Amino acid sequence: MINILTVVGARPQFIKAAAISHVIKEKYSHQITEDLLHTGQHYDDNMSGQFFSELNIPQPKYNLGVGSAPHGAQTAAMLKGIEEIILSNHYDGMLVYGDTNSTLAGALAASKQHLPVYHVEAGLRSFNRSMPEEINRIVTDHLSSLLFAPTAKAVQNLRNEGFPEEDIILSGDVMLDNVLHYSPLSSFHSPLSTSILATLHRDFNTDHTERLTNILSAINSIGQAFNTEVLLPLHPRTKQHIDSITSKPDMTHIHTIPPLSYLQTLAALRQARLVLTDSGGLQKEAFFCGKPCVILRPETEWTEIVDAGAAILADDSPSLILDAAKKLWSTTPPASSAFGDGHAAEKIIEKIL
Ligand code: UD1
Repeated sequence: MINILTVVGARPQFIKAAAISHVIKEKYSHQITEDLLHTGQHYDDNMSGQFFSELNIPQPKYNLGVGSAPHGAQTAAMLKGIEEIILSNHYDGMLVYGDTNSTLAGALAASKQHLPVYHVEAGLRSFNRSMPEEINRIVTDHLSSLLFAPTAKAVQNLRNEGFPEEDIILSGDVMLDNVLHYSPLSSFHSPLSTSILATLHRDFNTDHTERLTNILSAINSIGQAFNTEVLLPLHPRTKQHIDSITSKPDMTHIHTIPPLSYLQTLAALRQARLVLTDSGGLQKEAFFCGKPCVILRPETEWTEIVDAGAAILADDSPSLILDAAKKLWSTTPPASSAFGDGHAAEKIIEKIL
């Protein structure tokens, strides 16, 4: 029996961890035990708790309750708490996901205690080191024993950086596993119908009033152009910054609501015709559901989607965002095998074993 400690902390990690936790429970419970450690990076119920109940994953065994703080203080508090848990238990390895401060803290704490780190979503690069997530993913990859790359491009990024070939595994993407698994359930959750779904939470968009205002104006003009209300579930960071803008842009064609659950997001996606987002996860989920996407960033880690003609990078330029929306409105993204076959979680567990 091997004992794994899984470190999660932010909304997308609860969703990614669900894919692996299910497979462990259903197929490998005689070979692996998994304890969940929640750093507490996200703590509002609609950013955290609701995902555990909805996705039917066990409540975390540990919750560090770290909460919000500047990057250094937040990561340091996690590092201290995770190390204590590693030292007072026996684990054989640690699973970490993606690129958040929780990922970095987990990988650092484990590697200092000689605990193998398994990085799910390894090899992603935006080649923009001003993003905290880019720093987190580069450092985490270097601390990891097994690098589970979701796409061939991620594998190539790791090769280009000289990682040992035997540590790199093309696993496919656990988020595709989830979309396939949960889509049928999401049809029971359709409280909101929308033809355009938008999300916005990256610090470089929310924390700069000019960028935030540009993007909100562009979203509003898209709603106006298509004679609809754009549905915008608000991350708490984004809400705080919108509330603090003194001369607010026109938002009459934007319907803001609190963050959605995972199944509500899938339901909204299935109804939508177009997605506008700066989220990495939603870019992929849109692609998996056959919906085109305007990316509210200057670059993306998921270039496969742009290369397939299913998404356009429009940054914060109101004219580029509106043009991209008009261009994509009648586009149906092609089916693609770039993200695997929906069995990434099994491949990951088999390799760890
Ligand atoms: C983090 C990740 C990002 C991921 C995102 C998903 C890092 C560096 N960034 O960004 O990669 O895409 O999560 O959501 O780890 N807040 C609340 N309630 C909560 C959570 C956050 O009010 O439950 C507010 C706090 O004011 C906090 C701010 O949101 O200061 C930002 O939260 P933080 O976890 O630092 O980063 P995210 O923007 O969520």
